[in-house]
Amino acid sequence: MELCVALDLPDRMLNLALAEKLVDHDIWLKVGFRSFIRDGKGFIEELKQLNPNYKIFLDLKLYDIPNTMADAAEEIAGLGVEMFNVHASAGKKAMQTVIERLKEFENRPLVLAVTALTSFDHKSFHEIYGADIEEKAPWFAMQAYQAGLDGVVCSAFESRAIKRATDEKFLTLTPGIRPFGEASDDQKRVADLQTAKEEMADIIVVGRPVYKADDPAAVVKKILQNL
Ligand code: C5P
Repeated sequence: MELCVALDLPDRMLNLALAEKLVDHDIWLKVGFRSFIRDGKGFIEELKQLNPNYKIFLDLKLYDIPNTMADAAEEIAGLGVEMFNVHASAGKKAMQTVIERLKEFENRPLVLAVTALTSFDHKSFHEIYGADIEEKAPWFAMQAYQAGLDGVVCSAFESRAIKRATDEKFLTLTPGIRPFGEASDDQKRVADLQTAKEEMADIIVVGRPVYKADDPAAVVKKILQNL
């Protein structure tokens, strides 16, 4: 299991200061919409300057027509990030087109699919997809697997079932982790490290329990010791 710290602080300097505190660890860092829209390619480069072994997960959740998604994927691969994601609901064709386009890269980034956004409750999910989350999320995971993607973003509680339905090597990246039972904040279903391990999560995403801590480096160290 690997650790990905979400750089969810409100501005570039705060995120860089956090990344600077964690440089002793070759972990994943998650860069989201907000940072990337504002701070762009330069921010990715600054993170890599702090520690060239940081692995960057660009969390932009692409959703568009296949050719436009493939164009974006090509640009993302050119940024030198190690992983990014797309919405599985963009369709199998779109996901296949993305993977096909990335074949020209020697070291292409890993591509994950978002199955269902955790912000949906049953009613709002049903309104859009005409099905229950429990039924549709594994189906989306299967579509991503068949399209040749590397894995999915999912809840730790779904990780094992997805691997069972696809392949043990199909990656699961799981947010909503409270490593040592910290406050759940606005997350509905949180898993601790032990549960994430039991559920065979490959990469856990941790935000607030790290960046809100008095000593983020100490928390990261403790998580890494317990992976
Ligand atoms: O602070 P916390 O550990 O809850 O942060 C989790 C991170 O993972 C945030 O960046 C959040 O947007 C992201 N995420 C999530 N649930 C998803 C997908 C992404 O919490 N389904």
